Amino acid sequence: MKVVEQIKQPIAFEMDLFESKFRLSMSSKVALLNRITHYIVNRKGKQMRPMFVFLVSKMVANGEVSDRTYRGAAVIELIHTATLVHDDVVDDSNRRRGFFSVNALWKNKIAVLIGDFLLSKGLLLSIDNNDFDLLKIISVAVREMSEGELLQIEKARQLDITEAIYYEIIRQKTATLIAACCSLGAASVKPNSKHVDAMRKFGELIGMAFQIKDDLFDYGTEQIGKPTGIDIKEQKMTLPLIYVLNKVSTKERRWLINSIKKHHKNPKRVKEVIAFVKAKGGLEYATSKMKTFQDQALQYLQKYPKSEYRDSLELMVNYVIERKR
Ligand code: IPE
Ligand code: IPE
Ligand code: MG
Ligand code: MG
Repeated sequence: MKVVEQIKQPIAFEMDLFESKFRLSMSSKVALLNRITHYIVNRKGKQMRPMFVFLVSKMVANGEVSDRTYRGAAVIELIHTATLVHDDVVDDSNRRRGFFSVNALWKNKIAVLIGDFLLSKGLLLSIDNNDFDLLKIISVAVREMSEGELLQIEKARQLDITEAIYYEIIRQKTATLIAACCSLGAASVKPNSKHVDAMRKFGELIGMAFQIKDDLFDYGTEQIGKPTGIDIKEQKMTLPLIYVLNKVSTKERRWLINSIKKHHKNPKRVKEVIAFVKAKGGLEYATSKMKTFQDQALQYLQKYPKSEYRDSLELMVNYVIERKR
């Protein structure tokens, strides 16, 4: 059995029902909107966030989920989808999940509005059902994601990023949403319990590893359904590069910074930078940091009694590191 199927086994029923609820949650009276949201839902992602929601809920409540859990999972996936649509505008990226991105097909104007539509649909799903505690968890994540994206843009302009700032960026732009999944999964069945905070922390750790993995993909040549090699083009400095910048000679550092500042649109120069980062051990370093976050996340899980849900979450943590897309 494939590892993803194995992970999903204890939540197969929930993921099926989620799927239909999620589709419904996007509907609109406007024909153009429906055409585009259909396009989006027919190109599913890995759906790791709803999986986290259901697995955590079942782990902390002995196999229980509630209507709140389903709504929470749908809200999170809606918001995740909204941020991807916006992200491809921000990153000027034309591919997503193996197909054209929304901005590539319908242009930026429409992509911005679609992202807003999905975001509002998500927030309303919580409001209309009085899930205010869940809405709070989600809104904090949305705020942090915007802040993280802007911090990243600021650093891309100034090119003065440190390892500590990199961790702050990825914590805000990516780890907070996965933290929200896990804390919401717990809050949906055990509101105000100690699990809400503990699971937020767990989600944050795995979210950090998740984004380091995503940044490592950018240095690869595998088909992952979205472009690779675009981070440097966008002057985005990620962990492999930051590490190398800090360990090479002044002369080499000047060449690197100059490449990113002035030659980031030159594909040949970008390739040289990528090769240099690889030769200097940037990928190994980032991989080791990713594994540190993975280990910490796994340790967190050990505080919970063994169950099929905990087993699946363990597999999920390892999948984050080993996934191929
Ligand atoms: C992509 O997330 C955005 C990041 C935070 C790196 P996923 O890799 O979970 O995207 P999908 O939903 O599976 O396409
Ligand atoms: C992902 O940003 C985090 C979001 C806020 C969507 P990236 O730009 O690093 O993610 P990909 O690689 O395009 O999915
Ligand atoms: Mg981005
Ligand atoms: Mg992007």
